[in-house]
Amino acid sequence: MDTTLNDTLRTRKETGSHFTSTGLADVVAKRLINELNKLEIDNQNKLRVLDPACGDGELLLSFKRLAELNSFNNVDLVGVDENQQAVERAVTRLEEVKAENLDLIPNDFLEMINIEENISLFENESKKIDPVDVIIANPPYVRTQVLGSEVAQSLAKKFNLKGKVDLYQAFIIAMTMQLKPGGLLGVITSNRYLTTKGGESLRKFFRENYEIIEVMDLGDTKLFEAAVLPSIFIGRKKSNKVIENNSPANFYKIYEEKKSELIDEAVGFDSVFELLENLESGTFKVEEKFYSTLIGKLIFPESHKEPWVMASDEEYKWIEEVNQASYARFEDIGDIRVGIKTTADNVFISESWDELDTELKPESELLVPLHSADNASRWLPIEKKPKREILYTHTMVDGKKEVIDFTQYERGFNYLSSHREQLEGRKYVTKSRNWYEIWVTQNPGLLKLPKLIFPDISTEPKFFYDDGSCFVDGNCYWISLKDGVDNDLLYLLLGIANTAYLTKYHDIAFQNKLYAGRRRYMTQYVNKYPVPNPDTVYAKDIIKQVKSLVFNELTVEEKSKIEKEIEELTEKAFGVKK
Ligand SMILES: C[S@@+](CC[C@H](N)C(=O)[O-])C[C@H]1O[C@@H](n2cnc3c(N)ncnc32)[C@H](O)[C@@H]1O
Repeated sequence: MDTTLNDTLRTRKETGSHFTSTGLADVVAKRLINELNKLEIDNQNKLRVLDPACGDGELLLSFKRLAELNSFNNVDLVGVDENQQAVERAVTRLEEVKAENLDLIPNDFLEMINIEENISLFENESKKIDPVDVIIANPPYVRTQVLGSEVAQSLAKKFNLKGKVDLYQAFIIAMTMQLKPGGLLGVITSNRYLTTKGGESLRKFFRENYEIIEVMDLGDTKLFEAAVLPSIFIGRKKSNKVIENNSPANFYKIYEEKKSELIDEAVGFDSVFELLENLESGTFKVEEKFYSTLIGKLIFPESHKEPWVMASDEEYKWIEEVNQASYARFEDIGDIRVGIKTTADNVFISESWDELDTELKPESELLVPLHSADNASRWLPIEKKPKREILYTHTMVDGKKEVIDFTQYERGFNYLSSHREQLEGRKYVTKSRNWYEIWVTQNPGLLKLPKLIFPDISTEPKFFYDDGSCFVDGNCYWISLKDGVDNDLLYLLLGIANTAYLTKYHDIAFQNKLYAGRRRYMTQYVNKYPVPNPDTVYAKDIIKQVKSLVFNELTVEEKSKIEKEIEELTEKAFGVKK
């Protein structure tokens, strides 16, 4: 850290030193002690507890007081803070409550960790301090802008941080190094990492290093005076020795409620902290304010890019049951790809090729009907071919994708030449390829196989079948079966993908509703859709029903009758009620 800065001149913002209130400190301490109680360890065993940014010692005080109430009497308290005066106050306060075995160190905690050697070396004037059993902390939140780029860069280098560096991220890594495997971390952080793209590295770090016990999102409850909205993370550092506990992570969210109609019957609490102890979802009153709480479980998407998902206990249970009842996921049966992207749609895609002058009208072999988001609809029957066609520039030769030999297609080449200036303007294409090529072509061999198509964004699922005679625009995705998979499974996937049953699954597991109720149907979501056992009579019946939708143009009534049947069959095929 930049030691040239004079501590005393720094503002609170610069050091991130907003102290924790006793109420909030107690919330964190209580949860840690609850976990210790669950372990049924001998209360007389020594517990080493660290706050690496202890300020005037509030969190250590809370921990000590509550530990004693729970008969943990053999507690060593270790505190570090780079602010000498704060440490002095902490000494006084902790001595007042007769804390023994107290070690308070005025120092920069991040300097005390030797990350290069990847060991938790905690040294103070040649005195080594052992790893600890519990860390309780409210580390400083200081963003890159305030840290200054030099400090931010050196932290990023030392702690291998990517993206925007905040001091608390460095702290979390350093704390983890100081924690024994199996040790508990209770830390107050900003809640931003839960939902933002920028939170990816922290989500990844927590997932990889901790068995997550609970996350509390305290949102805008103003329990903390800093500008950031706080959350509490409680986790157990992973250890090879401890058998992994697979119990799901609890999630708790509280936010101030502005809607007055909910309010009349709201049960009252004396303080928000008291409310935090009430493990029930609902709307509650504290003095003149109203708060809603949501209690449930966290679902961790496979990719750390995705935010963690919060489901109510009931939703979580349902998702788990469906997962257990499923035979496979979409990704086990098919491959999902995005459609073709030309980067010059006005040139390559048209509904009116016929209107061109004869010498410019591309040969019909070059044109392929193209499904696009605006002609997509649920169960679109096979004979409904799109009007739009794409001038497709690639073909398969001996099993390999190759650009078409345009010497064979004079009119097609004339046409492309008439747009040469625009097409050549695509430098990313011309750098390594011919100026007249489509940008993302996909594999024409696979595109010509039977497939499912669905638009990326829509309010409801719009999956439909194509027999291979049409191609797919870049605003849609398509699923082709993996080698050797029975073609009938494509109808099964289609049938269930369009149900309200899977829409419920989608909404709980991915929580990605956009504005106006639109959903995103991205590869990483659809890949995870569950598939029931295709050998059951129900699955076979779904396949049969779907075929009747795909190969016939039905009336609205006929269609909705079959849809209803598919809905019921899906429920039966999974054996889990919706
Ligand atoms: C958000 S305050 C929390 C203080 C206390 N734990 C509490 O909860 O009331 C953060 C503390 O971190 C300290 N701090 C900032 N950078 C530090 C560093 N590199 N090493 C140790 N302490 C640091 C500040 O002096 C401040 O007291």
